[in-house]
Amino acid sequence: MEGSDVTTSLLLERRMAVEDALNSLVDKSLKGPTSAAFELIQEVLLSGGKRIRPVLTLLAYELAGGQDLSEVMDFAIATELIHTATLIHDDVYDGAKFRRGVQTIHEKHGLDRAIIGGDFLFVLGFGFGGRYDETIVRVMTETCTLIAAGEIKQLQHIGDLSTSPEDYYEIIRGKTAGPFSSACECAARIAGASMDQVIAMRDFGMELGIAFQLVDDLLDLTGDERMGKPRGTDVHEGKMTLPLIHSLTLLHGDGRRQLAEVLENFREDRWDELESLIEQSNSFNYCRLLIQNHLERALEHLSIFEENEIRDVLGDITRQVMMRND
Ligand code: IPE
Ligand code: IPE
Ligand code: MG
Ligand code: MG
Repeated sequence: MEGSDVTTSLLLERRMAVEDALNSLVDKSLKGPTSAAFELIQEVLLSGGKRIRPVLTLLAYELAGGQDLSEVMDFAIATELIHTATLIHDDVYDGAKFRRGVQTIHEKHGLDRAIIGGDFLFVLGFGFGGRYDETIVRVMTETCTLIAAGEIKQLQHIGDLSTSPEDYYEIIRGKTAGPFSSACECAARIAGASMDQVIAMRDFGMELGIAFQLVDDLLDLTGDERMGKPRGTDVHEGKMTLPLIHSLTLLHGDGRRQLAEVLENFREDRWDELESLIEQSNSFNYCRLLIQNHLERALEHLSIFEENEIRDVLGDITRQVMMRND
């Protein structure tokens, strides 16, 4: 098989392994005492998320020398359960109507159930991760506390046109890159990897996660319906993403005043105006370049591992982050 065919089939296999584990968890539990909670969360949990965190976990484990995927599967499932929990709650405070192509829980079932559904998935995820040793649980705990801190900082900066790139980086490290990083780090630990390899995996996940969120923020301005969530959500919410921060920094005089006014009074019919201002400061290209840099650094961290099929697949996932449209 050609290199990219190997990647496609390996990714599909790993993804199917994750889907099977999630499906069987839901099937089994729909008959048990927590069936009402599973009924509530099953739609968002099983509605075709990309599963990038658990798939990365499996591959990181394998590259770090792990031999038996069943050893790491519970941890991989924990990453997806916790991620989905954060999405349910994130959609509440972001006021999002759609997620993974389906109506969000708070829209469909009300705020009370969205809070319970998110809490339920968090605890379930911690139960899966808690089957591992103390270090894994400590890393997971730290990661989740930093997600909360990142989300709070993001809320503090809603509509704040003076938000700096440093603020932005702290937010995305907490809410997105940290979970990528700890998934890869813990996978290497579970595989019994050396400290150098654990650190390389941690740093690989961090760079990849930063790039992933930068792409997500770019897609909010440039993406289409393939995202499963509407374009412009961040702008409507007053979320200060890097293309906006960069553009506000570079534009001067009338341009800067116009951009501030558009952001403060954004409406759907002002898209062209917003896009042309961001183009004037070349901020889309600036972000694309930055994403490229983070992805190159991610690839450098992978280079300490022996060259094999799994390393190639992780390399391909890294390169694909730039091209993604959902
Ligand atoms: C969405 O994560 C939140 C971000 C960190 C951008 P994903 O893009 O991984 O969402 P799913 O899991 O595929 O739905
Ligand atoms: C994702 O952040 C939330 C977490 C990772 C906790 P965003 O709010 O930017 O992601 P979307 O745009 O809702 O998917
Ligand atoms: Mg959101
Ligand atoms: Mg977003």
